[in-house]
This record gives sequence, structure tokens and C-alpha cells, in this order.
Amino acid sequence: MRKPVIAGNWKLYKTKQEALSLVEELAPLVADAGQVEIVVAPVFTVLPSLVPAVAGTQINLAAQDVFWEEEGAYTGEVSSRMLLDAGASYVIIGHSERREYFGETDETVNKKIKAALNGPLIPIFCIGETLAAREAGETFKVLERQVKGGLAGIGAAQFAPVIIAYEPVWAIGTGKTATDAQAQEAHAFIRGVVSELYGAAAAGKVRILYGGSVKPENVKGLMACSDIDGALVGGASLKAASFASIVNFGQ
Ligand code: G3H
Repeated sequence: MRKPVIAGNWKLYKTKQEALSLVEELAPLVADAGQVEIVVAPVFTVLPSLVPAVAGTQINLAAQDVFWEEEGAYTGEVSSRMLLDAGASYVIIGHSERREYFGETDETVNKKIKAALNGPLIPIFCIGETLAAREAGETFKVLERQVKGGLAGIGAAQFAPVIIAYEPVWAIGTGKTATDAQAQEAHAFIRGVVSELYGAAAAGKVRILYGGSVKPENVKGLMACSDIDGALVGGASLKAASFASIVNFGQ
């Protein structure tokens, strides 16, 4: 059985005080959700202040990015060692916004996944096709390239903690969720690529999250799909009530 993961990506929102208020409101609402792994990803500067706030709750902390070197003359970067020091245990890597605005490639994503695993941090490895790629019939080709590129040189034992997040770019922040069938089809394909790389047992264990306009109203249908193991939530994770409802699969 794969334990579901519901992760909130707060992107460039929430100051320290706003983040603390959100966690304080969220914690009691998800206190009974022991069957779900709950993760929130604030901006770097807020991570350390949330450590005492999440202690003793169901909530785990993620960073939104990591640099691949441990330390050195890399102005502006943050390493996995520093993220661990700041209280993160997960890290989002290769989000489409980073690929689009900050020049991330399959190669940089690959280096970051390796750095995270060495941390050790649990990578939430994001992939997903653009609308143009989908319309050109290239969805599977793009997903295969991203999965294989991101995981190049990572052995089966090292791969075990990796969480994959499938986020079709056209569904992010647009209100357009992939249909349950579209999402399930992509997830099954991704699991197949993992099976090709690491074997059927590893493919059966890897958690694959869906992201892109997940809301309390659509999470139940998505979670009912056999290859969807959770959600990476943007907008709806910024309010305690909607995120808690998603954690409870729309209840
Ligand atoms: O990381 C989260 C995704 O980008 C989804 O964002 O739920 O606002 O569409 P969204």
C-alpha cells in the first residue's frame, strides 16, 4: 500500500507571521489525518520559524528548491545541508515554474535530485507537459524524457524515497484540472517508465502525486484513480480550510 501524500506548495506567498497563522489554523483541522503524509512548502526564509509550530503535528516541512553543491561561492543559492539545518525534510525539485522562469533543465533537476538524496531530503520531483506538447501528441515523449533525465545515474536503492509529481503545465493555476482519466493515463505511463528503470516492485511503491488546480471539489475523483497517490496543491493550499479539506479527500 502506498501512503498518500498531500503537499502544499506555497510558492511566493506567506510571510513568517502569515505562515505561522496558517499552520496554527491548519494543524487542528488535520490532526486526525494519520493515514495521509502532509507536507507544506513555504519560502526558504520562513522554514526555521515553522519548526516549533509543526512539532507534534501531522505537518512536515519542504523547501521549494535546492542547489546541487553543498557549499561554496554560489551567491544566492541554498544547499540541502542548509535546508536540513533550517528544518526541511522534503524538497520540491523541477517545478514547471522553475523550468520556465529560471532555466531549469533535466540536467539541473538531476543534479538537484542527487543532492537532495544525499542530504538526505525527500525529493518531490516535478514533471509535466505544456499545452503545446499535449496538443502535438507529445505528452508521453516529454514525460519519459523528464523522468529518465531527472533520474539519470540514480540507482534503485537511492531512488526509493523519491516522490514524483505530475503537473500538466496547462492545469497549473488556470482552474483547468486534468480530467481524472487524463491524469490516471499519465500516472500509469509514468509508473511504467519507473518500472522500466527500476523494476515492477519499485514502480509499485513510488508515490506519484497529481498537481494542477486541485481543489476540495475535485480531489476525491483524482484520489480514486489507481495510480494517483496524492496531490501537490498550489492555490488551494494557501487557506487552512481548503487545504484541510483536500487532506481529507474533499470531506
Ligand atoms: O505546485 C503546485 C502546482 O503548481 C499547482 O498549483 O494548484 O495553483 O494549480 P495550483
